[in-house]
Amino acid sequence: MLESYLRRQGLSGTPYTPLVGDLKKNFTMTMEARSKPIKLTDDISTRVMPYILQMLKTHGRTFFTWLGTTPTITIMDPEQIKEVFNKVYDFQKPHTFPLGNVIATGLANYDGEKWAKHRRIINPAFHLEKIKNMVPVFHQSCSEVVGKWDKIASDKGSSCEVDVWPGLVSMTADVISRTAFGSSYKEGQRIFELQGELAQLVRLSFLKAFIPGYIYLPTKNNRRMKAASREIQVILRRIINKRLRAREAPSGDLLGILLESNSGQAKGNELSIEDVMEECKLFYFAGQETTSVLLVWTMVMLSQHQDWQARAREEVKQVFGDKEPDTEGLNQLKVMTMILYEVLRLYPPIPQMTRAIHKEMKLGDLTLPGGVQISLPTLLVHRDTQLWGSDAAEFKPKRFKDGVSKATMGQVSFFPFAWGPRICIGQNFAMMEAKMALALILQRFSFELSPSYAHALYTAPTVRCSSYPTQDIVL
Ligand code: HEM
Repeated sequence: MLESYLRRQGLSGTPYTPLVGDLKKNFTMTMEARSKPIKLTDDISTRVMPYILQMLKTHGRTFFTWLGTTPTITIMDPEQIKEVFNKVYDFQKPHTFPLGNVIATGLANYDGEKWAKHRRIINPAFHLEKIKNMVPVFHQSCSEVVGKWDKIASDKGSSCEVDVWPGLVSMTADVISRTAFGSSYKEGQRIFELQGELAQLVRLSFLKAFIPGYIYLPTKNNRRMKAASREIQVILRRIINKRLRAREAPSGDLLGILLESNSGQAKGNELSIEDVMEECKLFYFAGQETTSVLLVWTMVMLSQHQDWQARAREEVKQVFGDKEPDTEGLNQLKVMTMILYEVLRLYPPIPQMTRAIHKEMKLGDLTLPGGVQISLPTLLVHRDTQLWGSDAAEFKPKRFKDGVSKATMGQVSFFPFAWGPRICIGQNFAMMEAKMALALILQRFSFELSPSYAHALYTAPTVRCSSYPTQDIVL
């Protein structure tokens, strides 16, 4: 019924295969694409979302495919994308993945009034003024890792090969532990370790989780997930209760700001302790991997484009010399901002977003039935030659020299942090952290790709560097 409804709208798409829809075809194509590395100059969409790319070529710019039994309409038109992002109450978060709630719920997973209330209370924690106070913490966490690389390089005497990915992961994990939990950051670290483990376990059960009842079976994985979740709850509750009992002066960390802004709400309008706990868990999940992925791709791009590496370093030297980077200086880094935007365009850490509609809805000149999903393929839109010109696949930070709205000609064709009311709440936090990390790296090192580097990226769920042991960068 849904298929004929969509076809009556003039939409083209794949015919429905009972129960599995396109899952199997999609999976097979993805696995095949992943089996060999691509060239640095190749379009990464062929590896990251090969099936959707092929459907785009076959069916045109608006088409439907099947996520199991759910029709998913992929849209490429910036006006329609804008409408979906703007109408947050009509186009909601889908909840199709059965293990989605295991890692964290929180703001990113709520809709309607609940989302609005949480967003209003959490917003102050991410105001620029508050982030400014976190910049020394960014500095501390980033310098620790850069210092370790420095030691490796000086022990070797000259140039040496370093796998930068583990360092970037520990850098962003340390930043989020310290900025979320301040003085309790050691306990915070344990929470985030457990969350990392949970994410890994969820990944392992990804396909099985769709089997009805699977998540309730007492398998080894499921039991470990339960135990890790319980341990996280216990530690979080301890940290929060300690804060509440101490009634100490509000601290500048995210938890402190969140508790402060929560206590300023009218009675009955505040978040419960469980709600606050969910939000803290979400900060890690939403903010750690995304930022490390942004950093690793920036290092890969700057290794490949040595001219931009030199320009970025020159700017850092000009603004800071050998001094410690501070907020004011980080805000002056124009070349660095252009580079980061261009990396976010070509390598958006979240390559695709989905929304669900529950009743019949207009979208542009389409009328869509309740029960369908809309896919916003960030990666494909960012690399679309109709929107970005024939050089869309090339790394050209200059396109952002006059800012995002000039580069996009005012269209919603660049949305690495989403767009509209649900835009990433941590956008400024992430950009500031990335600038700090890169400024420190550029002050100390010049870097290039190892000859053994293989461009074998995959999604999990962010667009990651390969699992091959060869993502090394030579410092
Ligand atoms: C380069 C880094 C980052 C990228 C690319 C990124 C990207 C995104 C995107 C695309 C969304 C929208 C998802 C959707 O609506 O389907 C989002 C939402 C969100 N992000 Fe980020 N993010 C980054 C860093 C961070 C950081 C550092 C934090 C927190 C410390 C954070 C917290 C959140 C939260 C809480 C939401 C949900 C907002 C809402 O639904 O109202 N993100 N992010």
